Amino acid sequence: MKPHWTLEDIPWDQFDRSKVNDDLVRVVRAASMVESNAADYATYLCNVFKGDAEFAAAAVQWAREEVQHGVALGRWAKLVDPDFDYDARFAAFRAGYHIPLDADTSVRGSRPGELIARCIVEVGTSSYYTAIADATDEPVLREICRRIATDEWRHYGLFYRHLHRYLEQEKLSRSKRAWIAFSRMLETEDDELRFAYHIANAPAIPATSFDRRKAGTEYAQRTYRLYNPNHIERAMGMVFKAVGFAPHGWLSRLLTALVRYAMALRTFRWPNLPASGKA
Ligand SMILES: [Fe+2]
Ligand SMILES: [Fe+2]
Repeated sequence: MKPHWTLEDIPWDQFDRSKVNDDLVRVVRAASMVESNAADYATYLCNVFKGDAEFAAAAVQWAREEVQHGVALGRWAKLVDPDFDYDARFAAFRAGYHIPLDADTSVRGSRPGELIARCIVEVGTSSYYTAIADATDEPVLREICRRIATDEWRHYGLFYRHLHRYLEQEKLSRSKRAWIAFSRMLETEDDELRFAYHIANAPAIPATSFDRRKAGTEYAQRTYRLYNPNHIERAMGMVFKAVGFAPHGWLSRLLTALVRYAMALRTFRWPNLPASGKA
């Protein structure tokens, strides 16, 4: 299948160093590690959905697009700092973080459960890249993040379509769907992102020992402040739609307010962050 865009579509020559923000560089580096690791997720999904050739083909194409996200972000990080040794850091990330590649059933308990979790991940990434694109004035990063965000919205649609196909065969109550969605949202700050942040921003490779709390706090404080109320409201609407609830009902509005409050709390210690150093 023809890609929706390639690295050649990015206007790399418009890079403007004067508009680079060091905190954004750090979160972009971390994102490049996680995105580049998508091939492992395709292997996992193909195992979980064994026998479903249509979904397996979609998962392989999905992973190609995710890997391209990682490569584009890594290339931008290298524009910022030619000494950013993307390959060595990605190798260190892969050496230290693994997903269950040999699983033949979903860690979410069922195929529709897995698809709900995939929808939640795409909600997270689509709103994340939209927030970065809206926050940066650097033209190349803005263009990369706009293109990635469009892909992530489309990925949500892909998993949502397959979710409904599976829900016709395998019933999953809305309370179970809500629990899976909630659990996956809580995993947003799991070790994958924390470790990616640690490896991508360590002064050198091999990195010093992984302080998961410090990495998580620094990542959250640099990321959550990028979101505005519209980003969060739209994301929560998509979460509710995946679960099967009204996207903009009173419960959605209440949870949107709670999520905004929780994110604000996580950014509270921002002034105490150490200086970013060389980006
Ligand atoms: Fe992605
Ligand atoms: Fe995606």
